[in-house]
Amino acid sequence: MELLNGNEVSKKIKEEIRLKVAELKAAGKKTPHLAAILVGADGASMTYVAAKEKDCQEVGFDSTVLRFDASISEDELLAEVVKINNNPEIDGLIVQLPLPKHINEKKVTETISYKKDVDGFHPMNVGMMFKGLRTFLPATPYGIIKTLEHYQIETAGKHCVVIGRSDIVGKPMSALMLQKNCTVTVCHSKTKDVSHYTLDADIIIAAIGIPGYLKAEMVREGAVVIDVGITRVADETAKSGYRLKGDVDFDKVAPKCSYITPVPGGVGPMTRVGLLLNTLDAIELYSK
Ligand code: GUN
Repeated sequence: MELLNGNEVSKKIKEEIRLKVAELKAAGKKTPHLAAILVGADGASMTYVAAKEKDCQEVGFDSTVLRFDASISEDELLAEVVKINNNPEIDGLIVQLPLPKHINEKKVTETISYKKDVDGFHPMNVGMMFKGLRTFLPATPYGIIKTLEHYQIETAGKHCVVIGRSDIVGKPMSALMLQKNCTVTVCHSKTKDVSHYTLDADIIIAAIGIPGYLKAEMVREGAVVIDVGITRVADETAKSGYRLKGDVDFDKVAPKCSYITPVPGGVGPMTRVGLLLNTLDAIELYSK
């Protein structure tokens, strides 16, 4: 069994991005600039946005965080998005989710210009991704593809089972694995007998959000297992009061696998790299 080390791979790719940014700067080209909008004071969202800022700094991107009180109206927030759409200094924009209940997330996502939508959530980018056209890819599936490529894991003709059908992970992941020539099965909360599918899988991508969901009895010997889960579970011994638990019963599943991602240190850091790669792509795709 070999660990798919997201920390190590992300470090390597970040260094490659840093060198590309240095080249852009030396050639007098534009420095990639990522903007994030953060509404309210959700703990996890603040942590994610701070991490994105740090990532930008590390690779030499410019970054801006716009913070708004949870009481901001939908119209005011949409106006802020339009302002960034029209600001040529900014190449990529993410609006950190979730948003307060009085704001329609779909409306906000669809207001971000598809040319700056480095989350890849805009219907235009979703459509382009499904057609296999070059565009921004949702960061987690992008990071997973980069991980599989780094470890040269064969995908052609393999049976990939994706567990979960979210717009952010499950659906785009299944499309990307299809493009990598896998035979793809998507299982979800209403699937009868998930084991029937996972026991036949060469590659399992667990993104269902239930800690410890994938058990050893559901996995065949030699499978590649990718764990997207990051549920916070209470842990008095941790400084934060919680620890992250994946969707895979890691200790029991790992010995059966050829490759497996740990949580933390697997998919998480690669998701962050996915966002950086999209921001770099924004320059190539749309910067004049
Ligand atoms: N909240 C949780 N995950 C994400 C993400 O990938 N992008 C944004 N914008 N918000 C999130």
